[in-house]
Amino acid sequence: MTRLSSNHLLGLKNLTSEDIQLIFETADNFKAVLNRPIKKVPSLRDITIANVFFENSTRTKISFELAEKRLSADIVNFSSGSSSISKGETLIDTVNNILSMKVDMVVMRHPAPGAALFLSKNVDAQIINAGDGTHEHPTQALLDAYSIREELEIDDFKGKKVVIVGDILHSRVALSNIYCLLKLGADVAVCGPPTLIPKYISALGVTVFFNLQEALNWCDVANMLRIQMERQDTKYFPSLREYSMQFGLTMNHLEALDKKITIMHPGPINRGVEISSEVADSAQSIILNQVENGVAIRMAVLYLLAAQREA
Ligand code: CP
Repeated sequence: MTRLSSNHLLGLKNLTSEDIQLIFETADNFKAVLNRPIKKVPSLRDITIANVFFENSTRTKISFELAEKRLSADIVNFSSGSSSISKGETLIDTVNNILSMKVDMVVMRHPAPGAALFLSKNVDAQIINAGDGTHEHPTQALLDAYSIREELEIDDFKGKKVVIVGDILHSRVALSNIYCLLKLGADVAVCGPPTLIPKYISALGVTVFFNLQEALNWCDVANMLRIQMERQDTKYFPSLREYSMQFGLTMNHLEALDKKITIMHPGPINRGVEISSEVADSAQSIILNQVENGVAIRMAVLYLLAAQREA
């Protein structure tokens, strides 16, 4: 297979396992490019991309921008804070105005679940979802799975056990990771307080743990998530201190295991809440490898979507 099954990247739900493998194989090639003295290729020199961010971002925004520059695309950056959104302009009008300046692709982060799908149906451009509210964050899930593949030196995820720990209810990273890892054949579990585990989650085919040490005993990889205070309109647990005592990962947890597990986090991390500094900075942590791999994965996604235009 040499082409993706979709013209947009809206989420992992609608990608096939063949799509994911194609993105990984393409990312392998771009990772080799990124390790060369000249890290740039001319692949997208006829493409213009708008990065449209209605929410804050450090990793995703910089990573997309670097990926686009490494592929020689022309880029424009848009942040809602400094735009005419505050004067009442709609999302479709905003993006259509940007597109009238001959933009081919839009990378968008938006607080509303479904915003990327909505845009894809209403404007004439390829849309890449860089996170839509509590719904999906597809490039994060792709780079997470790619980092597991690299760290465990596997092509086949069958039999590998990944637990996602924390605020599953509000996490677009959790949902995209679940779809992605299950499509690749991994066993997936979630762990957290009952109030932060959605009721539908078992129906997706994941195991649920309410005890962190039990989850760690079960897994090969633990992906620790931040508590998304900005998305919580009510109290889901008594205090951050109490959450941290029950679900914060420390060296004591890792030392109680009779195996070495891999520790991940999509960032931004809250040291001392969901993960101790000692664990985050330990040899078992691949947090910065995830960030590094984000550029190769985003290059692969942009490159493969651009190839759809010629199909
Ligand atoms: N992981 C992630 O999406 O980080 P940012 O919010 O900094 O982009």
